[in-house]
Amino acid sequence: MAQGDLEIVLLDILKELHSKYKSLQEGVVANYIPELAKVNPDLFSICIVTVDGQVYEIGDYEQLFTIQSISKVFAYGLALEDHGQVEVLKRVGVEPTGEAFNAIILDEQSKRPYNPMVNAGAIATTSLIKGSGATERLNRMLDMFQRYIGRDVFVDISVFTSERSTGHRNRAMAHLMLNFGMIDRNIEEALDLYFQQCAVIVNCHDLAVMAATLANRGINPISKKQAVDKRYIKDILSVMYTCGMYNFAGEWAYKIGIPAKSGVCGGIIAVVPHKMGIGVFSPPLDARGNSVRGVKVCEELSQQLGLHLF
Ligand code: DON
Repeated sequence: MAQGDLEIVLLDILKELHSKYKSLQEGVVANYIPELAKVNPDLFSICIVTVDGQVYEIGDYEQLFTIQSISKVFAYGLALEDHGQVEVLKRVGVEPTGEAFNAIILDEQSKRPYNPMVNAGAIATTSLIKGSGATERLNRMLDMFQRYIGRDVFVDISVFTSERSTGHRNRAMAHLMLNFGMIDRNIEEALDLYFQQCAVIVNCHDLAVMAATLANRGINPISKKQAVDKRYIKDILSVMYTCGMYNFAGEWAYKIGIPAKSGVCGGIIAVVPHKMGIGVFSPPLDARGNSVRGVKVCEELSQQLGLHLF
């Protein structure tokens, strides 16, 4: 298919999916972090960025929101760059849990959190980020996000403080991991950095660029800058594939068949290796914490464009 034809087809598909699902009234917005409950449930956007930098987008793709759990993917990449696969594996496993994202569970034998995509594993991962103090670690984290997004990024302070003052479940997990030696730093500092990474401000366009960077061996297809060492792409995409959609990960892999990650903000990123990154944003969530419209859009995109890896 010629480039011009592909553009028309992709834009038409996005328009059709957006109008098909924009009036769908299923799911509820996350409210366990008080600031997140304020979001407008009708916001809805879809964006595709190809590895050669073409952008197709529809809906509220400039609307800003906090990245939440989608950040876990990128923090994992930074921890791998800081310590290498062998060291990171000593602290965080790669097994799906089949449990909710906020389950308070560690692997019985190793005492590691199961994987870096659930909260416990993400907190342990973030505690591995190198830096001489809290500010340097935050700046290294923000620099990393900037490489993926291609512009300056900021933390939403209201969302950060809202989560810090209500995140007792995450605090409980951090204490448990401190007890088992999976975190060996000041846990309040590790939790602060985790809450800050979740509160990084993005839009749907950014999500697709970030996903496309992972699809493009770590090179941002718009800025052409390397965001993450390409040797860790297969590690990142493998855990996204098996664990990124929590207790829906198996069904997602079966039906949609591409690595993905969701967040309670209502965002989903999906990566089609060597082809494209997809970002969807729609705040109402299903019982597993995945965007209702986001899952439906990705399922249809996978079918219509033949994206399933197998
Ligand atoms: O740890 C938390 O609860 C949030 N900051 C992130 C959770 C999240 O996005 C889970 N995704 N569905």
